[in-house]
Amino acid sequence: MTADPPEPGSGPPPRRRRPRYAGTHPRRFDERYKERDPDKYPDLEAHVRAQGRTPAGTHVPIMVAEVLAALRPAPGESVADLTVGYGGHALALLERTAPDGRLIGLDLDGPQLEATGRRLAQLVDPARVHLHHSHFAGLPKLLAADGLASVDIMFADLGLASMQIDNPARGFSYKHDGPLDMRMDLRRPRTAADVLRTITCEELATALRELADEPEHEQIAQAIIRRRSERPITRTQELADVVLSAQGLTRRTWRAAVAAGESELHPAARTFQALRILVNDELHGLEQLLRVAPYCLHAGGRLGILTFHSGEDRRVKHSLRDGLRDGVYAQIADQPLRPSPAERHANPRSTPAKFRWAVRAAAT
Ligand SMILES: C[S@@+](CC[C@H](N)C(=O)[O-])C[C@H]1O[C@@H](n2cnc3c(N)ncnc32)[C@H](O)[C@@H]1O
Repeated sequence: MTADPPEPGSGPPPRRRRPRYAGTHPRRFDERYKERDPDKYPDLEAHVRAQGRTPAGTHVPIMVAEVLAALRPAPGESVADLTVGYGGHALALLERTAPDGRLIGLDLDGPQLEATGRRLAQLVDPARVHLHHSHFAGLPKLLAADGLASVDIMFADLGLASMQIDNPARGFSYKHDGPLDMRMDLRRPRTAADVLRTITCEELATALRELADEPEHEQIAQAIIRRRSERPITRTQELADVVLSAQGLTRRTWRAAVAAGESELHPAARTFQALRILVNDELHGLEQLLRVAPYCLHAGGRLGILTFHSGEDRRVKHSLRDGLRDGVYAQIADQPLRPSPAERHANPRSTPAKFRWAVRAAAT
């Protein structure tokens, strides 16, 4: 029996072999094909989480119980999740506002937001979820576009999601080599490599001090500018090596110091944090959000913000205190809430988190 040859493009797609990794366990982000598909391999995801690690391509939401207790989501309420990420908090809020509460979700990371949209659509009624690829300072316009003047709950979980940090192609981590990018929003014109090409030594030293409390800010800034005069710094590992050498270290001596229990925080961690905040203009964006936030909440509406470093927490604290004084907020958290020791142990990335909340007063 003979058959006509199939029309081009009509047959099943050709099977593509997954890239092989060396050894018995995948090491690189792109090799961890099971971890990056957690819905297909739930046992592996549970195993990785039980070891205190975050499976590649996912994110473990932080302080969920504390966030829900402070924000008290109720059936039918409207929620703006300003930093949807992997959708962990969004899902918890959607569960509490079921069956018909709406979620307006924002994120700067377009590809990640699309992936999260697909994930949420399998778990809740898609009509309840409206996602926008946007900076959170644009919230008032987006609410208007969704036919809302204000919402019952606003929540922001600042900084980066684990899958952004762990993906070397995004250039956020000193742990893996990748292009020095660091843009949360890929529509932004300037990468971290572009910033390092033009910043002055004084500006860089100030950023290291103010955005990351880096005690060695002058030495590190000078070392970066010296290296830049020889050739542009375009890779994460190059930058990490320059910062190590500014502190008299190499990768090998640093590993030895860690093995001997002498050090924990990587010497380049603060430099990467400062540069990321600069590239994404994060503190200015947060100030814009804090200005518009109360006007996007109903009277009695709740605002919650999770921060991860002192520059963020200070801004949130002052804004909420000023709002209480001026009668914009009826109530605020006296002190920030912190993750429990058990959560810090299970998810070390939660360690620096601080959570503050406020309740909107009647219209002012
Ligand atoms: C810590 S993650 C959020 C994780 C999320 N709560 C979860 O449970 O999966 C922070 C997210 O906020 C996004 N983001 C950071 N700054 C933003 C901004 N100004 N506007 C909108 N999204 C932002 C990042 O791209 C990232 O996906």
